[in-house]
Amino acid sequence: MLNPNGRVVMISGANRGIGLATATALSASGYRVSLGARNPDSIDASAFAGQVEIHQWDATEDQASEDWANATRHRFGAIDAIVLNAGIMITADLEHGLESDIDDMWNVNFKGPLRLIRAVLPDLKASGHGRVVNLVSLSGKRLLSETTFGYAASKFASMALTHAIRQNGWDSGVRATAVCPGLVDTDMVNSVTVPEGQTKITPAAIAATVAYALSLPNEASVAEILVNSRLEPSL
Ligand SMILES: NC(=O)c1ccc[n+]([C@@H]2O[C@H](COP(=O)([O-])OP(=O)(O)OC[C@H]3O[C@@H](n4cnc5c(N)ncnc54)[C@H](OP(=O)(O)O)[C@@H]3O)[C@@H](O)[C@H]2O)c1
Repeated sequence: MLNPNGRVVMISGANRGIGLATATALSASGYRVSLGARNPDSIDASAFAGQVEIHQWDATEDQASEDWANATRHRFGAIDAIVLNAGIMITADLEHGLESDIDDMWNVNFKGPLRLIRAVLPDLKASGHGRVVNLVSLSGKRLLSETTFGYAASKFASMALTHAIRQNGWDSGVRATAVCPGLVDTDMVNSVTVPEGQTKITPAAIAATVAYALSLPNEASVAEILVNSRLEPSL
């Protein structure tokens, strides 16, 4: 397993939800963390165990990913891993859903990670053990409801991006994993109530899954991790 001590990991959308839980867990285990958020003031640097860089980053801004990668290089001298976490979900049914909502999800959920990967791939390759974890979703594997088809489409695309990263980076030791959770207990799905007897996954459990994916050696590549809190056929 890779020793996290001193390794540098960037985490997008690190101010709340799965991103904050992941940043906290990775920092506690010895990573140097570089956190991207639309509003950097919403992150309390003193809450982290080790070295932390906090940078303004908006998934929809062209130059933002380059700027954040540059700030991370400048602060830490390397980038070993990235967690592509920031995302949005807007329900949009097939007949009446707004095209602008679908554009927004495409922009944040697919093009945001694409911009980030283009900004950091040279660093990940230079690391020799570069790691990418993409927070996709079980919605990137199957369509549970037509009201989330726009979200699912952006996540299917994000899954394709994960596999493109695997192929592009393989010879240089870059390994990419799509972590695909079902319902996680964050603001994103506040309005979703689970049926009696079911529960949502905790952000901490997803953070632990991310940490595991980041820790695997080059010869143990795991392309996808599907995480569910309920029984679905094949998932
Ligand atoms: N919760 C679930 O059930 C679930 C299940 C499967 C997959 N996921 C995926 O897991 C990831 C994290 O979700 P979450 O549940 O932690 O959601 P969340 O609590 O709603 O947090 C979303 C994060 O994304 C950031 N973000 C949104 N738009 C952004 C933009 N334009 N630029 C930069 N950052 C932006 C948010 O920043 P602000 O605070 O500035 O808005 C926030 O930090 C997402 O990719 C999501 O699709 C979630």
